[in-house]
Amino acid sequence: MIAAIIAAAGSGERFGAPIPKALIHLGDKTLLQHAVAHLSPVVDQIIVTAPAGYEDQIKELVGDEITVVTGGATRSESVNIGLAHVDSNADFVLVHDAARALASTELAARVISALQSGEVAVIPGLAEVNTVKVIDKDGYVIDSPERSALRNVQTPQGFAYSALKAAHADSRDVTDDAVLVANLGHKIKVIDGEERALKITNPSDLAIAATFLGDPTSFRTGVGTDAHAFGEGRELWLAGLLWPGEVGVDGHSDGDVAAHAICDALFAATSTGDLGSNFGTSRPEYAGASGVQLLQETLKIVTVAGYRISNVTVQIIGNRPRIGARRAEAISTISAALGGAPVSILATTTDGMGLTGEGKGIAAIASALVFK
Ligand code: CTP
Ligand code: MG
Repeated sequence: MIAAIIAAAGSGERFGAPIPKALIHLGDKTLLQHAVAHLSPVVDQIIVTAPAGYEDQIKELVGDEITVVTGGATRSESVNIGLAHVDSNADFVLVHDAARALASTELAARVISALQSGEVAVIPGLAEVNTVKVIDKDGYVIDSPERSALRNVQTPQGFAYSALKAAHADSRDVTDDAVLVANLGHKIKVIDGEERALKITNPSDLAIAATFLGDPTSFRTGVGTDAHAFGEGRELWLAGLLWPGEVGVDGHSDGDVAAHAICDALFAATSTGDLGSNFGTSRPEYAGASGVQLLQETLKIVTVAGYRISNVTVQIIGNRPRIGARRAEAISTISAALGGAPVSILATTTDGMGLTGEGKGIAAIASALVFK
């Protein structure tokens, strides 16, 4: 079996945020959550070393499957503490920095496969692009290593469990575990690292990391509209809410024009058909379906197509009901149906003109922004 220790107990002094570096957000997740998400497909056990006082918050973030322990004063000490919690059946242990949040699953898999083919210690490294000098304490150059032989090493670093345990038995403070294992006389294999495994140290590194997160050109936008005529004897459902005392509208479903316009905007943005093709009269199971139910179904369709919602907006057009007093309630209802996506709801009248101005019905126009 394969275990992983994610060192996340540092305070991130150089980063300079008021919270530990591992809890900084990058895109939709903290650095630690990115690191966990990338390793979990290829390891059987994950141990996270947390900064003292943040254990509960981190447990909540990473879930029950993961062991959270309080880290030590140095990275080496944190890894040493984590090592004590590794399952005794482990064959290999990966040691990873939460600060290298975007190191890919594929990189971890390559480290593991090198271990499986017999290496005792495997570390990723990138070719050095700068000319590097070794200096003495007075600042004079004492060596100019051949650049082509230099590697900038990264994590996850992988070790045979027995070797790492032995190496840490009398550990000193070093910035990487490979040094300790090398001190025992083991050969350390360097495999190709990757740019995206950069260590986030200073705030400017976060901007670079963000460029690896996703293709910003994968954003897509869509517009949807809907209108229904008032119909006697129907209750009014609008923006996911029941409006007692208001006249309802006719329709195959509950006639929630705001919800329907949003569904169509999402279908438009993701090229997944429209309200009619997904839930129309040919699908009797959707007769009388609520707006919230259709939004939830739409979210599923959009998700299966590989998209996530950036935000949606809807403008309700009609003389009544008055939206303002229940706007917050409507926003939270629709947002919940869309998995927590940001939602804005606006309302307007049309100065007495057109079908909604004449009080014959209600209409809505929605927009959606999604990304792959
Ligand atoms: N780390 C740790 N325990 C420590 C110190 C560091 O687990 N006592 C972890 C960090 O959380 C980080 C990794 O080791 O994920 C690499 O360390 P570094 O990038 O230096 O992070 P910090 O020590 O938090 O940053 P700084 O040195 O700027 O304070
Ligand atoms: Mg540090």
